[in-house]
Amino acid sequence: MGSPAIAILGTGSYAPEKILSNGDLAKLVDTSDEWIFSRTGIRERRIAADNETTSQMAAAAARRALADAGLTAADIDLIIVATITPDLPMPATACFVQDLLGVSTHAACFDLNAACSGFLYALDTAWAMLGSGRYRHALVIGAEKLSSVLDWKDRTTCVLFGDGAGAVVLGPARGTAQIIGTKLYAEGAHARLLCIPDGGSNTPAPVLDALRTPRTITMKGREIFKIAVREMEDAARDILEQHQVPAARIDCVIPHQANLRIIGAIAQYLELPSDRFFVNLDRYGNTSAASIPLALDEARRSGRIKTGDTTLFVAFGAGLTYGSALVRW
Ligand code: COA
Repeated sequence: MGSPAIAILGTGSYAPEKILSNGDLAKLVDTSDEWIFSRTGIRERRIAADNETTSQMAAAAARRALADAGLTAADIDLIIVATITPDLPMPATACFVQDLLGVSTHAACFDLNAACSGFLYALDTAWAMLGSGRYRHALVIGAEKLSSVLDWKDRTTCVLFGDGAGAVVLGPARGTAQIIGTKLYAEGAHARLLCIPDGGSNTPAPVLDALRTPRTITMKGREIFKIAVREMEDAARDILEQHQVPAARIDCVIPHQANLRIIGAIAQYLELPSDRFFVNLDRYGNTSAASIPLALDEARRSGRIKTGDTTLFVAFGAGLTYGSALVRW
């Protein structure tokens, strides 16, 4: 009766070696550690090497998630990579990851673009595909090389983002751990508030060459801040209500790691103490689709999430997309 219970069987993450501190950024643009930290909570972020690709970071995180799950590449029949910084416009980064890991040709591999909500969109998609009984084990990965799409002269954006990857393995539940629910949303009316305005089919290659515009992120930060707080609160409240879980029963919230003030506002609205929220944005900045799985892996490995705990994931991002998920461990 019903779909089989699906659980997160393992987690893994990867962060590039190079650290770029707020002090380093102050040498590039007119900013300061004080401004960045007080407005965002970020102290430093990781930056991938020039020749390091999104797929390589994704594969490194995936290997750790497989080891954590006690599985191998041979067990995987679905790979979804959530990213806005694919290695190439085509083919999918998931296919490069498949090749790097040696996953069988019988696996389905594709990318998903829901920006900073990408991991939750991919989790929902993989959960449904596994729930259908047609796939058994999935790698759900969020990976970004955002440093490749930043304008390093624009202080309003370049101080916020970083590179990295996080991965989970989904499969049949082994105990009482399972995904309880997911909720996804989007408000396309706000699509232009946060975007890479050139480089898609809107600007065919010859036009782009003539424009000589870089393909970099543009953002209306203040507007996004207000919408993000409302969207994250709605997404959290909806899923808690739907599954009749009082907020007080959540052991750990893993929010999208964009801004400590946004996380603080959500904590206040949900009437939860701030120590219930896992935060690592001080060390990584906003890594978009990698943000939640990277934080999740750190939270698990540091003992912040234990067997029997209930966690709430909540995210917002370009689109504007947003969503939430409830997971029992
Ligand atoms: N260093 C120093 N000053 C900066 C700066 C920087 N890096 N970036 C902007 N400023 C300046 C602005 O030019 C502005 O100066 P002005 O008052 O003379 O015009 C002033 O700081 C305030 O800018 P404002 O944009 O109002 O600041 P803010 O308090 O809203 O903080 C963000 C800016 C971007 C940190 C904040 O709006 C935010 O986090 N928004 C959400 C963005 C986000 O999360 N995006 C990702 C979505 S997944």
